[in-house]
Amino acid sequence: MTRYEVGEYIGCGTAAAFFRLRKYPRIGVKILSKEGDSFLSKGKCKRKLQWELAVGKLLRKSGISVPRYIGVVKVKFPEYFAQTMETRKSQIAIEKDAKNIEMGVQGLSAIIKSLTGKVRWGLLIELVENDVSIISKERLAYYHQREIDKVESLGITVRDSKLARNVLWSSSRRKLYLIDFEFWKLSSELEKQLKKGLWKTFF
Ligand SMILES: Nc1ncnc2c1ncn2[C@@H]1O[C@H](COP(=O)(O)OP(=O)(O)O)[C@@H](O)[C@H]1O
Ligand SMILES: [Mg+2]
Repeated sequence: MTRYEVGEYIGCGTAAAFFRLRKYPRIGVKILSKEGDSFLSKGKCKRKLQWELAVGKLLRKSGISVPRYIGVVKVKFPEYFAQTMETRKSQIAIEKDAKNIEMGVQGLSAIIKSLTGKVRWGLLIELVENDVSIISKERLAYYHQREIDKVESLGITVRDSKLARNVLWSSSRRKLYLIDFEFWKLSSELEKQLKKGLWKTFF
């Protein structure tokens, strides 16, 4: 059995939802929501999350500002989960509009409901208390571009890191973090390194 239980809902994107871990409030867990409607097989979910874990570790090691990527583990959705999600529906609707997310609120809460009581693969990531309302758009754009330039100098093509999407701002640390590398294209050299399992030395 897993010792990790899913807690408070934090946010969602196009393919994933992110939650605080119960008992470990500074750690969050990313769940691929497509897993719930059998679009992705469980094995495929695990591999995708493991790939993101490896890329996250490599980026952090290379000096890019990303949260700490911890591991891919099984997490449990507690039985009371469906009820707590009901109360968050309006928040999800606002987020969905802000981020131009395709997945409907109904869709997301249905998926989450179907996860209640279940165990799923999740990617543990350091949780950044995101608050972009504290910083001016211009300043955020400046920090963002600076970070993207660093990433690209590593030979990585960034495809979907738009402002207000896949960017977190920690006001307490005054620091920007990049997240969600699913669609980034690594240089063939970096890709080889990852595939060879060299990244294991970072663990
Ligand atoms: N480390 C984190 N700290 C705080 N919030 C996060 C973190 N990782 C993801 N999130 C939240 O979860 C959302 C979805 O995660 P993301 O990795 O972008 O998945 P998707 O592939 O669905 O876009 C993000 O937009 C953000 O709101
Ligand atoms: Mg995203």
